[in-house]
Amino acid sequence: MTNVVIFGAPGSGKGTQSELIIKKYGLDHISTGDVLRAEIKNKTELGKIAEGYISDGKLVPDELIIDMLASVLDSKKDSKGVIFDGFPRTIPQGQALDKMLKERGTEVQVVLSLEVDDAELVDRLLKRGQISGRADDNLETIKSRLEVYHGQTSPLKQYYVEQGKLAAIKGTGTIEEIFERITKAIK
Ligand code: AP5
Ligand code: MG
Repeated sequence: MTNVVIFGAPGSGKGTQSELIIKKYGLDHISTGDVLRAEIKNKTELGKIAEGYISDGKLVPDELIIDMLASVLDSKKDSKGVIFDGFPRTIPQGQALDKMLKERGTEVQVVLSLEVDDAELVDRLLKRGQISGRADDNLETIKSRLEVYHGQTSPLKQYYVEQGKLAAIKGTGTIEEIFERITKAIK
């Protein structure tokens, strides 16, 4: 299995680049944000809990996310590989992913870290907010998402540097230019 983590702040282009990676490499996409938004739409128990965290720009508690991820992963047993988008987001999630993949005889091969400065992130998300209908694309929630990213999520970069798996990718420029950098890093 080829397992890729696409990593980066809110609005860094994880979803956009995942689509291109899936097309080129035939991987399955697991976006925890997309899974949670579907849970909210379907009014499941998990969706009801997640809703408040998402609209506040806070992380859904690790135990809930890790359990959810494990069951999604089990549904992809015959997959060629997975691109993890928006997971892991904390050190405990990173450790849980390593353990889950190890139990399945595989591991993370590469972590693509999309690097974009905060001013551009805010700009992109506000622009998307005009059409996305996402509860978290407003200035107040965007600020909270960025704070959470810098405080709780970015320390994972060091975690993957230590494993020799982090590939920092300049996340600005055209979508095609960024994808070109990603394909080089995957090779
Ligand atoms: P999630 O859905 O993962 O959102 P996010 O990380 O905040 O990131 P986005 O999806 O907003 O951005 P993206 O990086 O995918 O960028 P995109 O390609 O869309 O998570 C949402 C929430 O769910 C979290 O806040 C949390 O509450 C919860 N959650 C999810 N996972 C969790 C976890 N593991 N643990 C706990 N809680 C969790 O691009 C953004 C915009 O920019 C688009 O409009 C796009 O068109 C545009 N764009 C893309 N590339 C470019 C470019 N090169 N130039 C200009 N514009 C561009
Ligand atoms: Mg996304």
